[in-house]
This record gives sequence, C-alpha cells and structure tokens, in this order.
Amino acid sequence: MQVPFLDLKAQYAQIKDQVQPALIDVMENTAFAGGSFVAEFEKNFADYCQCKHAIGVGSGTEALWVALVAMGVKPGDEVITAANTFIATAEAISFAGATPVFVDVEEHSYNLDPVQVEAAITDKTKVIIPVHLYGQIASMDPVLAIAKKHGLRVLEDASQSHGATSSERRAGSIADAGCFSFYPGKNLGAYGEAGAITTNDDELAATMRRFRDHGQAKKYYHDMVGWNARMDGFQGAVLDIKLNYLPEWTKARQAHAAQYNQLLAEHAGIQIPSVSAGNEHVYHIYAIRTQNRDQVMQALAEKGVASGIHYPIPLHLQTAYADLGYKQGQFPVAERCAAEQISLPMYAELTEAQIAYVAEQLKYIVA
Ligand SMILES: Cc1ncc(COP(=O)(O)O)c(C=O)c1O
Repeated sequence: MQVPFLDLKAQYAQIKDQVQPALIDVMENTAFAGGSFVAEFEKNFADYCQCKHAIGVGSGTEALWVALVAMGVKPGDEVITAANTFIATAEAISFAGATPVFVDVEEHSYNLDPVQVEAAITDKTKVIIPVHLYGQIASMDPVLAIAKKHGLRVLEDASQSHGATSSERRAGSIADAGCFSFYPGKNLGAYGEAGAITTNDDELAATMRRFRDHGQAKKYYHDMVGWNARMDGFQGAVLDIKLNYLPEWTKARQAHAAQYNQLLAEHAGIQIPSVSAGNEHVYHIYAIRTQNRDQVMQALAEKGVASGIHYPIPLHLQTAYADLGYKQGQFPVAERCAAEQISLPMYAELTEAQIAYVAEQLKYIVA
C-alpha cells in the first residue's frame, strides 16, 4: 500500500465544484489585490477565531513580521521564542531588526517552556512568541502572567493550529495577536501563499491594516512608512470556501490521531503525542518519537509510507543563526525532538485502512 505524507489532490476533488466558480468570480469582479473576497474571508476567519479582527496578508512569515513591526519591535530589541519551530518565526524577528532569543520546550507538549521564558528576559525583551506547534496550543497562562509582570507583548504563532483551543479559547485569540499561515499544506491552506493576523486590540489592528497597505488608511494619504503585504483576492475566495470545511476536516484529523494513538500507545519504543490538560489538539502534524529515527523512516519508505521530520535541526543550531553563539546541548529537549521525531501521514482524507497499515509497518519496524 502507498501512503503519501499529504494528498492535496484528494481535498481539491471534494471542493472543486465550489472553488472553480469562485475563482471565476474573482476575475469577473477584478478583485485581485485585497478587495471584497479578502474582506469577506477576514470577517469569517475573525469570527472563527473568536476575535474582533483578522487581517489578511501575503504569508504566515509576513503575518509575524507585520505584527512585530506594529508592536513597535525595532533594532536592539529582543524577542523570545521556542528553539524548535519553523525558521519563519525567527526570520520575522530578525527582519523586524530584533534579535531572536531561543528557549527550550516542554518535554510533553514540545511547546515553549514558561519557566525558561522567565529566565531569558532582559531589559531588551519586547515580545514573547509562543508557537502552537503541530496543532496544540502552548502553555499560555504562565506566559501571559510573565508578560504582564514584565510589561511585554505576547504574539501567538498559530500557523500550525487553526481552530485549536485551550480552555475553550481559540488559537489566535489568547494573546495580543495571533499569526496564521495558509501555506497549501496547512489545516486551512490557500491555493498559493497567504497568511493572517488576528487580534482583539482595535489600535493594533488599525496599525496592521495601514502597514500592510503602504501605511495608508485613505488612498495616497500615507501616515506611516508601510509595505505591500496584502492578501490576494484568489486566496481570499478559496480560503473562505475552505473555512466552511475546516471543522469537519479537523474532526477527521482528530479521529485519525485517535486511531494512531490506539494502535501505537502500548508499543515500547514508540512515544505518541501527548495533549495537555484543557487543550484540543488539531493535529496539523502527528509526530511520534522513536530511537534510530532515520533507519525507521527509511524502512517505512520501503513499505510505501512517506513520513517527515519537523524539524531536523533546532533553530539555535542552524547555520543561519550561528552568529548568535548558541551551543550544542544548550536546549536538550529541542535537540532530542530533532533527533527522535517522525511525522506520520496526517490529513483529513486518510483512510482507516491506510492508518492501520502505517501503524502495522511501524510496529513491525520498531520491534
Ligand atoms: C510555525 C510556523 N510559523 C511560521 C510559518 C510561516 O508561514 P508561511 O510559510 O505561510 O510563510 C510556518 C509555515 O510553515 C510555520 O509552520
């Protein structure tokens, strides 16, 4: 049996009859850059995230950068984030002119460890970015308390956690603002590049809206030096359709995770993901941990099962950040994750038979 890591064609087949006329509609209305389709999606996505505002931008990376700039982050500042995230989180910090400060993650959730956050704060710290990795919200309450104590802003990187909740609060609604990626493979994915920022802060929202449109609230009246960070109309139209399916697709992912869990939980040598109390995980990625990871992945591939690693090198050990001077061994949990994790196939359209096959092969390989 062949089990691909992701199957975007299967998803497209389900929604094709709605997406194709919607794209024609965008052309008929020439609503290409920003415009009514983006505005409609922003309204619906804000509601979905239990937020007052959603601001559509060009990508998740751009969402993070725009949010940091709007929060006033500038050269000389420090921004704290997790060592085991996709590099975009740190790139946005760097391109806002600030220095990323990495901290280790919790052994059970793989998300930012609040204890280490407090220890990393200096008088240059401006913002903390907890990343809701793999589909699970980070420990937000301790981070919010630390931020309040030190007068810092908190920005959620919710790029992998559309619709995830923690004590009934949706990702993107918990801190000062939340950033989302709609990269095609995400739980809510565009047909190209797109991202959004959510917030309940009216002032921050107004600044971000102006900034993403050349610093203008009225055409050609520029109150600030901004940027062109608008979402394109096709993406707004596609995302608005797909948003209707997101609850159903999320339930399917959760059912698949439950099946994997049931089949793999008792197997010595395989550690399944854990869900923190009060959290609803949306399983953007289903990552297990095992020894001899690379051999296990190779053996899975020989049996037709594609798998991935998110991520093989934690950010503090990436060449791009060598000048920050971090050392091997500094963040042991992130380093163990990088060495031991395997992401198994996870998407709504997976079948029970495919999951059973993946689990069976995996148990046989990790004997
Ligand atoms: C945690 C995280 N942050 C940021 C991003 C960047 O999003 P984009 O690829 O849309 O720029 C991603 C996307 O892969 C991500 O997973």
